[in-house]
Amino acid sequence: MNSNKVVLSAKDISITFGALKAVTNFNLEIKENELVGLIGPNGAGKTTVFNIITGIYSPTSGTYHFNGELIKKTPTFKLVKKGLARTFQNIRLFKNMSVLDNVLVANNFNMKYGILSGIFRFPNYWREEKKAKEKALELLKIFDLDKYADTAAGNLPYGKQRKLEIARAMATNPKLLLLDEPAAGMNPTETEELMNTISLIRKRFNIAILLIEHDMKLVLGICEKLVVLDHGTTIASGNPMEVINNPRVVTAYLGEKED
Ligand SMILES: Nc1ncnc2c1ncn2[C@@H]1O[C@H](COP(=O)(O)OP(=O)(O)O)[C@@H](O)[C@H]1O
Ligand SMILES: [Mg+2]
Repeated sequence: MNSNKVVLSAKDISITFGALKAVTNFNLEIKENELVGLIGPNGAGKTTVFNIITGIYSPTSGTYHFNGELIKKTPTFKLVKKGLARTFQNIRLFKNMSVLDNVLVANNFNMKYGILSGIFRFPNYWREEKKAKEKALELLKIFDLDKYADTAAGNLPYGKQRKLEIARAMATNPKLLLLDEPAAGMNPTETEELMNTISLIRKRFNIAILLIEHDMKLVLGICEKLVVLDHGTTIASGNPMEVINNPRVVTAYLGEKED
């Protein structure tokens, strides 16, 4: 069951790019362990919401709290340390690095040795390195990627690359994970596998997830709540089945051309 603790609370967030109102008065509350879907036609402002939450864009107006703390002009790396992780709409892996190293890079945020220790390789450097490696392998195992640990990330099949991105995001120990269209470009089998992975990590790590996704089977299969954006405005939110049958939502999607 979900606890009542609010992990993310966004209030009246708006952002404009020149004359374009990309997001207008966006409100959202995510509780611990809740899985919320953020949907809407292309260009609706979904990724922009992620970019605001993760400190990449500064909103024109509005505020948000993460774990009860007011977040304002906080750089992305600090937000990662506070427990915010994301994946991107387009794959951003280090393709020539091994699968294991891709996860270890993310884990570096949590290393406890200092710079000098790192340079001179003091004993605690090796201890931390070993711990990090064990933790990364454990994560890969959960994602069923451990057998590819030494494979170059770019040589993995597409669906597994997307899974590796999620594994890497998990290496920073997030309390809230933001996934931007993780099923994009996947075949139905890969999508099904992804759906199971998302459910699994949420239960196992007890984290909240905000999911941007177009695949309705995936969204309806795992989300407890949906928020629908259209031209930057929230046109519906709440129970997934009610939301997708809402006439405004149906119209918004019918107006969208296939891409
Ligand atoms: N940095 C930016 N500068 C100008 N316009 C932007 C910028 N980022 C996003 N936009 C515009 O904001 C709108 C919403 O984009 P986006 O959030 O990427 O939509 P979605 O993820 O829902 O498809 C689009 O019209 C997009 O072109
Ligand atoms: Mg997007």
